[in-house]
Amino acid sequence: MSDTILVTGGAGFIGSCFIRHILSTEDVRIVNLDALTYAGNPENLTQIEKKTNYTFVHGSIQNAELVKSICEKHNVTSIINFAAESHVDRSIINAHPFIDTNVLGTLVLLETLNELKLTKLVHVSTDEVYGSLGKEGKFTEFTPLSPNSPYSASKASSDLLVNAFVSTFNSPAIITRCSNNYGPFQFPEKLIPLMILNAIEDKPLPVYGDGLNVRDWIHVQDHCEAIWTVYNNGELGQVYNIGGNCELTNIEVVKTILKQLNKPETLIKFINDRPGHDRRYAMDIEKISYELGWKPRLNFEQGIRETIQWYIDNPQWCNNVRTGAYREYYKMQYGDN
Ligand code: NAD
Ligand code: TYD
Repeated sequence: MSDTILVTGGAGFIGSCFIRHILSTEDVRIVNLDALTYAGNPENLTQIEKKTNYTFVHGSIQNAELVKSICEKHNVTSIINFAAESHVDRSIINAHPFIDTNVLGTLVLLETLNELKLTKLVHVSTDEVYGSLGKEGKFTEFTPLSPNSPYSASKASSDLLVNAFVSTFNSPAIITRCSNNYGPFQFPEKLIPLMILNAIEDKPLPVYGDGLNVRDWIHVQDHCEAIWTVYNNGELGQVYNIGGNCELTNIEVVKTILKQLNKPETLIKFINDRPGHDRRYAMDIEKISYELGWKPRLNFEQGIRETIQWYIDNPQWCNNVRTGAYREYYKMQYGDN
């Protein structure tokens, strides 16, 4: 066993998928540092929590002393940073936690990387840093950063810090930028799980604007496999786009969910658009495909069917995450719908 990886934000949607996947397939040790915000859920990790090569630490990536002491105590060799405030709508309500975690937290990890001379940091970022596309074209790694929401601005800021550390200190860091993920264990504030749960309960499905905004959907398992590929074979200092080659309008996604659940389209409710709503995202994934041999494996039709089934099969998980704070957020965002 060689690497001990500090995975940050490993109790969230993508980080927990990564840990479940890696600990069932690879011979590494993982230390998971997670602040357990509303989006962090230890239940996402019950299947691996007893493994001897897994350790959980409750705390924030903003706590420099804690991050350093964890790395020293566990002989951490490298970091994969998933920890973030991740929801655009919440960043419109209050941007401060986004700057605190996404920008200042990333800075702490970069400083730790340098100070302890760790072998690498993989910084997990998003296609949203590139801004919005028109009808044609895709984002490449050379597309200028042009974020439109406080969330994407905070992620772009963290990406710029990573680049600055690579240029200034030759820090061994790599950035991945991925498109919209879906799959099991996603917190029901994001489009797909929200629509699945509302449809199951015959509640209105709130679609922003005209529903024609396009996202490039990727199954979370494919994203995690791409991150593992980059972690092992990516070139230090580089950026790698990750995407699902699966562009769909929001209304297409919502209608697919309704059809699979055998629910009527009359449940769809068009509501006021999100301010600054990016029109279209699409990722050019040539670089990671040609250089590292990664391609997405799961098609959307099968992935969404299995995802819907997971939410049907896990009512307890769904109820547990919809706490009082969640219901307050939901009411503020959607009124009494
Ligand atoms: P999530 O909101 O489900 O999980 C975030 C996790 O980070 C939670 O467990 C939370 O408790 C933890 N966290 C928050 N602040 C922290 C802090 N200060 N210290 C330690 N832990 C903290 O998010 P996700 O969807 O799993 O996204 C993970 C990463 O992937 C994020 O960096 C996000 O920007 C990026 N990303 C997400 C998507 C997507 O579609 N969800 C797409 C591309 C990139
Ligand atoms: P979301 O899951 O929040 O991801 P992101 O904004 O990071 O892409 O939203 C995906 C798309 O779905 C986006 O175009 C906004 C739209 N959307 C709705 O129409 N209604 C909703 O209630 C939500 C949460 C999102």
